[in-house]
Amino acid sequence: MPTPLRFDDTQGQDHTAQVDGQPVTYRAFMDLTYVTMPVDPIQRLNVFVPTPYFNGGTVNGYQRVTAPIFMPNTVGGYLPGPQDFPGNLAVYSRGDTILRALKRGYVVVTAGLRGRTQTDGQGQNTGKAPAFIVDMKAAVRYVKFNAGRLPGNPERIITNGTSAGGATSALMGASGNADFFESRLQDLGAAPATDDIFAVSAYCPIHNLEHADAAYEWEFSGIDQWHRQRIRVEDNRQICTPIHGHLSEQERALSPQLKAAFIPYVNGLELKDRAGNPLSLDHTGEGSFKTQILRYLKDSAQTALDAGQDVTKYAGVIVSGHTVTRIDWPQYLRAITRMKSVPAFDALDLRNPENDLFGNRLTAARHFTPFAQAHSAVPATLADADLVAAVNPLTYLLKKQSHVAPHWRIRHGAADRDTSFAIPVILATKLANRGYDVDFALPWATPHSGDYDLPDLFDWIDGLCQTAG
Ligand code: DHB
Repeated sequence: MPTPLRFDDTQGQDHTAQVDGQPVTYRAFMDLTYVTMPVDPIQRLNVFVPTPYFNGGTVNGYQRVTAPIFMPNTVGGYLPGPQDFPGNLAVYSRGDTILRALKRGYVVVTAGLRGRTQTDGQGQNTGKAPAFIVDMKAAVRYVKFNAGRLPGNPERIITNGTSAGGATSALMGASGNADFFESRLQDLGAAPATDDIFAVSAYCPIHNLEHADAAYEWEFSGIDQWHRQRIRVEDNRQICTPIHGHLSEQERALSPQLKAAFIPYVNGLELKDRAGNPLSLDHTGEGSFKTQILRYLKDSAQTALDAGQDVTKYAGVIVSGHTVTRIDWPQYLRAITRMKSVPAFDALDLRNPENDLFGNRLTAARHFTPFAQAHSAVPATLADADLVAAVNPLTYLLKKQSHVAPHWRIRHGAADRDTSFAIPVILATKLANRGYDVDFALPWATPHSGDYDLPDLFDWIDGLCQTAG
């Protein structure tokens, strides 16, 4: 009988696909169990390897043992994120990302991760937090346990994801080998290996959920209309209907309270800019932290202007000749619009995805901030603060109780209102302050989305992996 969790490199199937008119040949190893005691059929992974690596060949300067291992996830909305493959027609699929990574010579491993809506045969919940990250860690442990058997360099694992999937990627990078997850990994029968990784790619990571409500009101307080899309999946297609609303009297009353709570939070982080100057906010919410965000937005607009784009699509972008001189914060925010009501994440009626994420085995949804618990509109309980903190990447950057990935690439669109700009800026700044390598930008006119600049992402990966032996 084969040893459990041992990767068998004789079981692959060769495929050829076209990418930009050129053939990409890869070997697929499908539907492998990455834990010995799975609790859900989603806990399986696929491995894709550029075929030349099986014949002593090289791709993009990499060989079988040196190739980076790219691990994209399909998590969105903290829903279950199934394992992926090229040509997958499901709406969540990033099959094209997989093929483009293979073309660059990366080994690609995509693991199915549990999500907030999953139940077992008895109707009990099996995918509530921290299931998504426990599964991702188990998948990384599987890869590292199979060092030498599974092609690629297990010291060069790069995770990738968008939104809740971006948060998953960021949390992988921040929480390497953290104690909190150990017993949960043991309970699944995860492979005996570590789960720290080399690099993180995160697009619009929806993270730091316990501070995201306050950050959102710091940004949008005073804007009382919201605009978003209701997304339904029908016949495997996403159907988006725009919906609009006004904040209620109660929501307008809560907004300034949340905004006020953000100020001591930011100041307590003791963030610094590259020159070592403090990034902080005064009691009105103004200050160098906000100036730093405006600088990122201005740099983004300037880059777009230099590339010949019309940057005046959004109001509040002040251009003089070929220079973006200023971003007018209130005007710009009105132009991109508020998306969420108050509180943006921890809904008083428990009806947001994040409430559902923080349910438990027997409870569908819970609050995860004392503020929303205190103002709850429905009978509700509060998730354990240790659990909420354990799925927040920031926790590990403050406590130093994990193995943090040395390299980070974080993107959050300049037109993204799914969370405040403050949230990714805090993550990028804290990482840089702690001495990690961070590539951060707010790409211009870019909404909540990911994988939109794969050539640049892969150049970044090559820059880290082609030189480092
Ligand atoms: C996602 C988007 C959100 O606005 C949110 O609150 C949680 C998750 C997502 O797209 O994954």
